[in-house]
Amino acid sequence: MRAPKNKLVWDVTMSLDGFIADPKGDPGKMFDWYFSGDTLSVYSSKTLPFKLTKDDAKYFDSKTKATGAIIAGRRTYDYAKAWGGSFFIPVPFFVLTHRPPHRVPKGTTKFTFVTDGIESAVAQAKFAAGKKEVNLMGANIAKECIEADLLDEIRVHIAPFLMGDGVRLHDYLGSHWVELKRREVIASSSGITHISFNL
Ligand SMILES: NC(=O)c1ccc[n+]([C@@H]2O[C@H](COP(=O)([O-])OP(=O)(O)OC[C@H]3O[C@@H](n4cnc5c(N)ncnc54)[C@H](OP(=O)(O)O)[C@@H]3O)[C@@H](O)[C@H]2O)c1
Repeated sequence: MRAPKNKLVWDVTMSLDGFIADPKGDPGKMFDWYFSGDTLSVYSSKTLPFKLTKDDAKYFDSKTKATGAIIAGRRTYDYAKAWGGSFFIPVPFFVLTHRPPHRVPKGTTKFTFVTDGIESAVAQAKFAAGKKEVNLMGANIAKECIEADLLDEIRVHIAPFLMGDGVRLHDYLGSHWVELKRREVIASSSGITHISFNL
């Protein structure tokens, strides 16, 4: 299946020393920026009340609005307990896994479990997203996308923490260099620095 040309973006919050979650898999305080301001995101709900600083809310809402589909790795899906069946962005959701679950929590999100590889997941998500972006969640699947030359943009939110240990952005990417072109830098009043790079 040949994928359409819409953008594939890896969006990730990372500590300054390069971790995306603690040793138990929890992003923990790194995600405080979603909840520590006084501006309600349009994607806020009773169960997930996104309250950000004004500049973070503008950034978050515009990037979220541009998202037409999501791909997550199975570890991210499991860690988040399938978001209770309802992910906060109402778009098609693809989970890359070798072992589709027997039961999925009932909710508003339509999950598709993809077992035939990253290229297939990306192609299916791009078709489902129409002209919008496809957003990746999970370092392992992002690494596969980089290796397969599928990724267009890395959007990293640098959280003002040193964590010392945990899940790394990447353990080992291979011995070749991947050249990045910086696109955007926003130093937010929350202490988060949003940096995006094109590949
Ligand atoms: N800081 C942030 O912004 C952020 C965002 C998202 C996630 N996280 C954290 O990141 C951690 C998860 O990331 P991760 O990098 O460890 O894992 P991941 O990318 O979420 O998932 C990896 C898993 O996906 C499945 N998979 C990957 N490639 C596959 C393929 N080609 N075919 C079939 N299945 C495939 C495999 O699961 P199976 O073989 O078991 O099916 C693999 O173990 C969690 O701790 C989560 O909380 C942080």
